[in-house]
Amino acid sequence: MSYQLLNGKEISAQIKNEIAEEVKQIIATGGKQPHLAAILVGTDGASETYVAGKVKSCKQVGFKSSLFRFNNSVSEDELISKIKEINADDNIDGLIVQLPIPEHISENKIIETIDPKKDVDGFHPVNIGKMTIGLPAYISATPKGISELLKRNNIETSGKHCVVIGRSNIVGKPVSILLSQKNETGNATVTLCHSRTKNLKEITLQADIIIAAIGKLEFVTADMIKEGAVVVDVGIHRVKSDKTKSGWKLKGDVKFDEVAPKCSYITPVPGGVGPMTIVSLLQNTLIASKKEIYK
Ligand code: GUN
Repeated sequence: MSYQLLNGKEISAQIKNEIAEEVKQIIATGGKQPHLAAILVGTDGASETYVAGKVKSCKQVGFKSSLFRFNNSVSEDELISKIKEINADDNIDGLIVQLPIPEHISENKIIETIDPKKDVDGFHPVNIGKMTIGLPAYISATPKGISELLKRNNIETSGKHCVVIGRSNIVGKPVSILLSQKNETGNATVTLCHSRTKNLKEITLQADIIIAAIGKLEFVTADMIKEGAVVVDVGIHRVKSDKTKSGWKLKGDVKFDEVAPKCSYITPVPGGVGPMTIVSLLQNTLIASKKEIYK
């Protein structure tokens, strides 16, 4: 079967243009420049790259961004104080704390300290809860980006069997809820699979749409795919390569070369879900600055 790529790079560029246009309008009519704050703890290479991408994207669409860095040794109290300070700062519309954070700090405590009104990552229990019951809320960036990628490629989800592999709080769980929601980007029959799923291949072979978010290099193989399926790969793994200048290559949770020929649509890695995640964060920040969800 000849497959089509779900080109997140191209679609995210279109959406960025749309956002940039809107920001120009807002500023031209005397409105406020959207402002995203990011907190980065430590010097983890992947986190550095993600945050740099977010800061650069803010600039591209005309947002202001502020990056607050802390050493790995920062205390939980210090981090909580900074979050509270940002919560109270009327000039800042959205706040993200890049995960993971060091073990000695409670991730739940940090997330719950972020004002839900500024929680543009959609990680706060208030936003997760609202999203789950279908109320207006910040939708976390990767699930929102996946939904937008399917929508802009006219991929129908209604009545389809979507199999999500991986149950993380930031991807697997929320995307399973979004796809089963009673609305035009949902209405799917969703099966959420994870490390304890017994008959995984039996289930994935029934999938019209597979979302691979298990965090294991090339976990999804051709024998798991029904002919004509849509495959969305959320994984990002840096592997050594003698074919690239940097000596590294990015690969996903899907064994692309053997899976792609069986698909109708598939996301590449890089250039699939990754850029859509960043653009969703920008969309949420714009929503925050316009106070569309919370007054
Ligand atoms: N770590 C991995 N993905 C994400 C994300 O979407 N947001 C934040 N804050 N941290 C992450």
